[in-house]
Amino acid sequence: TWTTGNVIEEQVEAIREQVGTKRAICGLSGGVDSAVAAALVQKAIGSQLTCVYVDHGLMRKGETEQVEKDFVAATGVQLKVVDAEERFLTALKGVSDPEEKRKIIGREFIRVFEQAQAEIVAEAGESGEAVEFLVQGTLYPDVVESGGGTGTANIKSHHNVGGLPEDLEFQLIEPLRKLFKDEVRMVGQELGLPEEIVQRQPFPGPGLGIRIVGGVTKERLDLLREADAIAREELTAAGLDREIWQCPVVLLADVRSVGVQGDGRTYGHPIVLRPVSSEDAMTADWSRLPYDVLARISTRITNEVRDVNRVVLDVTSKPPGTIEWE
Ligand code: XMP
Repeated sequence: TWTTGNVIEEQVEAIREQVGTKRAICGLSGGVDSAVAAALVQKAIGSQLTCVYVDHGLMRKGETEQVEKDFVAATGVQLKVVDAEERFLTALKGVSDPEEKRKIIGREFIRVFEQAQAEIVAEAGESGEAVEFLVQGTLYPDVVESGGGTGTANIKSHHNVGGLPEDLEFQLIEPLRKLFKDEVRMVGQELGLPEEIVQRQPFPGPGLGIRIVGGVTKERLDLLREADAIAREELTAAGLDREIWQCPVVLLADVRSVGVQGDGRTYGHPIVLRPVSSEDAMTADWSRLPYDVLARISTRITNEVRDVNRVVLDVTSKPPGTIEWE
């Protein structure tokens, strides 16, 4: 029978056998999946693991600080933070095709991990064992929707599955590959991770890069970060965090519409709110949020975010719409 205890025990044993005396790195994204994967691998191999947090500049407001503080405090892992904003934004320059964005982001993640790998070995000195393993928090739905399942079409390349470069040097450790999100949360709880980490809403590895319809620039990211922070603040204040699965906030950077503010005409971008309820992200329904909450979010975003003059609500279920817009 399936119990979290069994899963943990089985995985810990398998990981110990696979890694031996070598070293592993784990890409942390701030999300539940990578946090639970890291905690599981840490339980198995302790200080042979180094976590790497890549700040790709596509993060939401406050995310980097949260990983640096909360996750380290909860687990005591060795953490390396890499500032890679310029690298990612340069690689993404002028790219607006969603799959191309995903592949670029997946590839740049790996390049950063390879650099981190070299640094970790150098820091360990001559006696240091090589870093041969990369831990990823890949879940079952990620595999299926990236076309890795049997007979499924490739819907989108999750950054850590279909987005991996072909010349990957690492062997992968993916202890959550057979699990759904609710099971991952249970495993995380059993491993003693705090509520704030285990109950976090999902956020995709490619971050805000796949929530800008159009090219990704620092300026657009800053706009979206502001809008997203407002939406999250109001949803939390309304006590809706546990009710909705997640609420992507999307910037339609290639669209403009006419508006009026003060006594002047504006010609700005729309922001899309995409609140969904779901059990496992394979299917989803749009959340029936209270109108007064929607009104507050809309008023604040149009007042506080420069260049945004319209807020629209996505009322599409999955299928036919996916949760993210790209
Ligand atoms: P879609 O948009 O496919 O999203 O309905 C399903 C769930 O997966 C998340 N998502 C990702 N997570 N890397 C991730 O770690 C990715 O590349 C990725 N793409 C989508 C999405 O936020 C939703 O929870």
